[in-house]
Amino acid sequence: MSEHIIIERRGAIQIIRMNRPDKKNAITRKMYAEMAGALAAGDADPAVRVHVFFGVPGAFSSGNDLADFMAVAMGGEGGTEVWDFLLALATAQKPVVSGVDGIAVGIGTTINLHCDLTFATPRTLFRTPFVDLGLVPEAGSSLLAPAVLGRQNAFALLGLGEGFSAERAKDAGLIYAVVEEDKLEADTLAAAAAIAAKPPEALKIARDLMRGSREDVVARIKEEGAHFQERLKSNEAKTAFVAFMERKKAG
Ligand code: COA
Repeated sequence: MSEHIIIERRGAIQIIRMNRPDKKNAITRKMYAEMAGALAAGDADPAVRVHVFFGVPGAFSSGNDLADFMAVAMGGEGGTEVWDFLLALATAQKPVVSGVDGIAVGIGTTINLHCDLTFATPRTLFRTPFVDLGLVPEAGSSLLAPAVLGRQNAFALLGLGEGFSAERAKDAGLIYAVVEEDKLEADTLAAAAAIAAKPPEALKIARDLMRGSREDVVARIKEEGAHFQERLKSNEAKTAFVAFMERKKAG
C-alpha cells in the first residue's frame, strides 16, 4: 500500500481510497497496480463481501495521469497495470460500490460503469474527454455506456465529451443516488453494509445474472486498448497532452 492508494477493511467492507489530492487523484501506473491487487485480494478473501471506491473531497479522480500518457506518446513502454486493473474491475467477484465527489474525469467516470451502486454529490461532474484528447473510450465504456445510458447519451458523454452533472447522471442511469457531500461516505458505506449483510451465495448468483457474461466486456476492453495504445502515439493526442502541460505555464 502506498500513500496514494489507501486500503482499509471495515468488517466485511474493503475500502479502496484514491488519495493523491495534489493532482486531483490522477491515477498513476503504480496506483492502478495497487487497486488491481486490492480487488484480487478482496475477491480471494472470504471475509470481504463488498469493495468500495472513494476519492478525496472534491476529487474522485481526474483520470489517468497525463504525464504517464505523455511518456507513452514519446515512445515509452506502457506496461500492463491499466489492463490488470480493468480486468480485475470488470471481472470482480464481489459487488463494487463507489462514492464520488467532485471531479470524475476519464476513468473517474468509466469505473462507475462497472459499479453495482454509485453515489455522487451535487458538485460532481462526470466527464470523459477521450476524443478531445485524440483518444478513444476505454474500460469497456464503448460497450457499457450505450447499454446503460442509451446510445445518444453515450455519444454525448463519450463522443462529445459533454459533462454530466450528478442529476443528469442519475436521470440517465449512470449512478444510483445523489447525496450531500457530508453524507456521501456514510450513505455509501451504509449501502455497502446492506450488501454485506445479504446471503452472499444468493447475492452472487443474482449479481452474475444481472451482469451477464464478462467475456464481451473483457473483449471490448482489449479492443479499445489496442486502439488506445495506437492513439497515444498520434499527433492528435500529442498535441492535446502538450497543450495540457503548457496550460499552467501559459496561465
Ligand atoms: N494527470 C496529471 N496531472 C493532473 C491531471 C491528470 N489527469 N489532472 C490534474 N492534474 C494536476 C494538474 O497538472 C495540477 O498539477 P500542478 O498543481 O502541479 O500544476 C493539479 O493536478 C491540479 O489540477 P488543476 O488543473 O490546477 O485543477 P483544476 O481544479 O483547475 O482542474 C481538472 C481540474 C481535472 C478539470 C483539470 O486538471 C483537467 O482537466 N485535468 C486533465 C483531465 C484529463 O484530461 N484526464 C485524462 C482523461 S483520459
